[in-house]
Amino acid sequence: MKKPSSQIKSRERVALSGEVFTAPREVKAMLDLVRKESYSIDATFLEPSCGNGNFLVEIFRRKLKTARALLREREREESWSSEEVGKASFFLHARVALSTYGIELQQDNVEEARARCLSEFRKSLKRSLKRDMSPEEEALIAGILKANLVQGDALSFKDATGKDVSLFQWSLGEDGTLEGRGIRYQDIVEGAPEQDLFNYDQFDEKGEWIPPETTHVGPVPLQEAFQ
Ligand SMILES: C[S@@+](CC[C@H](N)C(=O)[O-])C[C@H]1O[C@@H](n2cnc3c(N)ncnc32)[C@H](O)[C@@H]1O
Repeated sequence: MKKPSSQIKSRERVALSGEVFTAPREVKAMLDLVRKESYSIDATFLEPSCGNGNFLVEIFRRKLKTARALLREREREESWSSEEVGKASFFLHARVALSTYGIELQQDNVEEARARCLSEFRKSLKRSLKRDMSPEEEALIAGILKANLVQGDALSFKDATGKDVSLFQWSLGEDGTLEGRGIRYQDIVEGAPEQDLFNYDQFDEKGEWIPPETTHVGPVPLQEAFQ
């Protein structure tokens, strides 16, 4: 029998959920269409059927490359101690993780995507700081990936337990304080003002619609956010 390619796990899964992964060459070519954003550490990416993370991994590779370049530049400018370099690296890596999201139907793919993305952070830290990730750094990045890469049905907007798929809009202050607004994925996709025409609280001063918040994280020091 012919061996399935690395783009499919099994014929059953292809039939069940259209699971055919995108090859690296196509992933790179597609991300090159938004090249500038893909290298910007704070650019928001959300992949609604992220599979085992082919696009997310490449997005992280690009953003992390920028994070390392920024770190080198700041190191030269500021003549930092190794502790200060470590702290700056911690924040830069957190920013990369906080702005990148994925939703995927199948739990095993979610786990695989999180593990592959975490491995990109490990490699990046090793390259920039010439050391392994500390347990604190590992807990932070793994925590963000767990919050941002979630199991869910991007069409029904529900997860496997029937709950609304919800994602956090994060803000990381200059002082290292993290805050997160939980927002329903359905509101992100279908957030048309006419649905809540008489709820004026949901419009900001420019008349733009603000999705209602479902849950809140923080404000909390970044180091303590995912312990
Ligand atoms: C064609 S694959 C693409 C995976 C990945 N984006 C890539 O390019 O390698 C489609 C993926 O979407 C997932 N999927 C199918 N229906 C979905 C749904 N309703 N919501 C979220 N994910 C879904 C499948 O499990 C599969 O992993």
